[in-house]
Amino acid sequence: MTSARKGKVSVVGAGFYGSTTALRLAEYDIFETVVLTDIVDGKSEGLALDMNQSRPIEGFETAVVGQTTTPDGEGYQATAGSDIVVITAGLPRKPGMSRMDLIETNAKIVRGVAENVAKHAPNAVVIVVSNPLDEMTALTQLATGFPKARVLGQAGMLDTARFSNFVAAELHVPIGAVRTLTLGSHGDTMVPVPSQCTVTVDGQQRALTDLLGADKIEELVTRTRNGGAEIVALLKTGSAYYAPSAAAARMARAVAEDAGTVLPVCAWVDGEYGINGVYLGVEAEIGAGGVKRVVETQLSGDELAALHAAAEAVRAKQADVADL
Ligand code: LAC
Repeated sequence: MTSARKGKVSVVGAGFYGSTTALRLAEYDIFETVVLTDIVDGKSEGLALDMNQSRPIEGFETAVVGQTTTPDGEGYQATAGSDIVVITAGLPRKPGMSRMDLIETNAKIVRGVAENVAKHAPNAVVIVVSNPLDEMTALTQLATGFPKARVLGQAGMLDTARFSNFVAAELHVPIGAVRTLTLGSHGDTMVPVPSQCTVTVDGQQRALTDLLGADKIEELVTRTRNGGAEIVALLKTGSAYYAPSAAAARMARAVAEDAGTVLPVCAWVDGEYGINGVYLGVEAEIGAGGVKRVVETQLSGDELAALHAAAEAVRAKQADVADL
């Protein structure tokens, strides 16, 4: 049993993404309280009760609190003083939609949530997962007025996990042997970084580029870039949530543990890689205050050029969110 259980983490939105995130956070058994909210009356209360009833079986003590909220902020008292807030509110994609097709609808929802978060949990680190991710992260920072280091988005961990999964399956190696990296946006300008990808074979770390040909790597990269859409098309209703919630929960854990863990996240970039003033997928050291430091990874010339292109693409869209 974990001895130092502390802090409060709130998850806004009790859809599949939010509820699986809340359960993962509770099962870590490191938080005092996990709060789950939703605008559907009774939904989060019901899910919280169900999660609490799993505690004797799974053996965790963290209490889960469910709370119905209204768009004008009723119920947000339950999130008061949260150390961390994960925003999952918004609509998921339908088959055939791009993440960007959600921008207007989700901007309204996320802006309202962000304003309520700022009011009730003014010191929280906010982790955004709503899509389109890079834009919703930028919007949350604007709407909360929080320091940029305290608002970050989840995307790189998920894209990286998908890439690693495809590489492991292709090479028939354990998932733990594979290390991949993706930067850039959570969308068309995702930037895979093959030069930093490695696979441990017979105890030796090898470059991915030594083990797979350029065409095969490109195929896996394309599948990763379309990884969310592939699942949306199969599910027909809703989007992925097991890997996304694992990524979001892991980020919240890195904040709670304050250990300076380096993770690929959507963070405010101002100067690193020669890129200024934009939320972008990069590696960063994560701690109690959110992003401690953006880590500049060694990139090949092509990869750096792709990262700059991604930055310009998301910069244009992020400028639009101020008016949404
Ligand atoms: C995905 C969504 C959650 O990539 O962005 O599955």
